[in-house]
Amino acid sequence: MAKNFKRHTITAALPYANGPVHIGHLAGVYVPADIYVRYLRSQGRDVAFVCGSDEHGVAITLKARKEGAAPQEIVDKYHSMIKESFEKFGISFDIYSRTSAKIHHETSSEMFKDLFDKGVFEEQVSSQYFDEEAGQFLADRYIVGTCPNCGNENAYGDQCEKCGSSLSPSELINPRSALSGAAPVLKETRHWYLPMQDYENWLRQWILEGHKEWKSNVYGQCKSWLDTGLRPRAMTRDLDWGVAVPLKGAEGKVLYVWFDAPIGYISATREWATAQGKDWEPYWKADDTRLIHFIGKDNIVFHCIIFPSILKAEGSYILPDNVPANEFLNLEGDKISTSRNWAVWLHEYLDELPGKEDVLRYALCANAPETKDNDFTWKDFQARNNNELVAVFGNFINRAVVLTHKYFDGRIPERQELFDIDREAIQKVNDAPGRIAGALENFKFREALNEFMDLARAGNKYLADTEPWKLIKENPDRVNTILNIALQIAGNLAILGEPFLPNTSRKLEKILGSGSEVWSRAGQIDLLPPGHEINKAELLFEKIEDDVIDAQIQKLQHTKEENESSQPDVVTPSKPEIAYDDFIKLDIRIGTILEAEALPKSKKLLKLKVDTGIDQRTILSGIAQHFSPEDILGKQVSVLVNLAPRKMMGIESQGMILMAEDGEGRLRFVLPSEHVDNGSMIS
Ligand code: 2FM
Ligand code: ZN
Repeated sequence: MAKNFKRHTITAALPYANGPVHIGHLAGVYVPADIYVRYLRSQGRDVAFVCGSDEHGVAITLKARKEGAAPQEIVDKYHSMIKESFEKFGISFDIYSRTSAKIHHETSSEMFKDLFDKGVFEEQVSSQYFDEEAGQFLADRYIVGTCPNCGNENAYGDQCEKCGSSLSPSELINPRSALSGAAPVLKETRHWYLPMQDYENWLRQWILEGHKEWKSNVYGQCKSWLDTGLRPRAMTRDLDWGVAVPLKGAEGKVLYVWFDAPIGYISATREWATAQGKDWEPYWKADDTRLIHFIGKDNIVFHCIIFPSILKAEGSYILPDNVPANEFLNLEGDKISTSRNWAVWLHEYLDELPGKEDVLRYALCANAPETKDNDFTWKDFQARNNNELVAVFGNFINRAVVLTHKYFDGRIPERQELFDIDREAIQKVNDAPGRIAGALENFKFREALNEFMDLARAGNKYLADTEPWKLIKENPDRVNTILNIALQIAGNLAILGEPFLPNTSRKLEKILGSGSEVWSRAGQIDLLPPGHEINKAELLFEKIEDDVIDAQIQKLQHTKEENESSQPDVVTPSKPEIAYDDFIKLDIRIGTILEAEALPKSKKLLKLKVDTGIDQRTILSGIAQHFSPEDILGKQVSVLVNLAPRKMMGIESQGMILMAEDGEGRLRFVLPSEHVDNGSMIS
């Protein structure tokens, strides 16, 4: 760090309050941010670590539509869930706020108004898609149509999820509204644009010349945006959810979510400072404040190009000194996906593996996607716990503590004459804080963790090489020295490990009876004075057995099977035309549900026994979230009886129950208007 900063404002990307937090978020943003902040605090620095829920934007309104709820209900639900899981996991935010808070509406409106008054925005009238049936403009995500690149009929107006190409709504073939299914019409609307092209030269200077030290993935992405050339970007949207545009004649318009979300960092700082009786302004406006944004790679342009341009346009704010964005974490070889439920959710992890918060922090940091996308696997998680935390760190501490109780009644012995092997171990202690800090200052969290574990490895090896249990009879003086040094290493590990493994450090401090120490005390071998009494040994980590890991792998396997068996979302009846001959291939009969039972391992499937008039057969139907077994016993249903059998969760399903799904995702049985005999054909 070239400059001597007086305070730090550390931000972590505001997660969207439309779903829970998963390990991808943790590895990419929250674990590194928390490690960094804990390290700064241990150095006694003045830090504001701010975050909160991002509660605006189209994604929230889409989720609300899907769940048949109001946007506020959705954000309330996920905000509480996310906040609670971060707390339980030990992410040490000074404040976790939310963008629906009054202070945020005020802060972001003030910022918009200020830029408007300064004449920063360009006003432009453009033609945008409008749904005449629903009576509203359609955000890109609300327009669905055929992808011009791959023919996917359900591509979104901003992206085709099938081929991954990014689109604009006008590129879609046969665009239709996701609200009503109607063909949208183009209608004129007025918006306020940030003239990004005006900031291009300044951004080139500031980033490409002034911040060559930024991570290469961040610097590279900025360079490529700037080389392509910047264009005006609309900072407002036609939407009924968000911060209202604070101008006359702008009714029905809100601030673009990427305008208001980063201002959420400022609002959260204001809220925190007010509660602390502090002044928030130095944290955002003083030159001796270091502002750092922790984000994932999909947020780079917003934090490095757009938000800094907003701050620059306002004029009184500092700019980020660094934006150490990470790449993505995959799960068992596949991209993490909320919609496909392909994730390890933090709240579920906390429930299913209680007390193992530090193990997850360790595995995610050791495998952090710092320079490229990385993969999380449960086997790797198990190996990191068993072979590193248990076998190295835990084993070393346990040996040192148990031997001290055995030979010295739990009191720290006095060092005697030193030999080379002791001096080498002491040197490792002296060097460790600098090595770890050096890596942390450069946002190399994996390297920092490895340096930390090197000290634990050195401690473990020191005991293995010196073998105090063999020396105790013939040379007890040596054992005094060896255990003194081992315990000083343990004391250092408690300090240096706190940013990475805070719960473990607390446990270790308790065992050593040492209390919390600050970073500046690390590197010394006089942390624990001779005669000081330590407490009884307690295991820092436990071995994780195969059955625990297998259960998690099984859970993912079920998700995969459920995804394969569920129907893709269809927004409008727009499947390709088929011939009559294709239609008559379907043998659809009326049947009656004779038995119905839930499958304990599946959230979606019910196992049904159905009398089809031809036979009685087993059918697995993805309706468990809509009906309970007792509700549907005796019900008549339509069954596709000549569907090829499929095995799901080890059970063969022989056919398919026909269901109607409404716009809110609710399911109803497809039935004749009157009772008919089982086996009647639908044609
Ligand atoms: O990508 C996301 O999840 C966004 N909600 C991040 C916002 S970061 C900040 F700008 F608020
Ligand atoms: Zn496509």
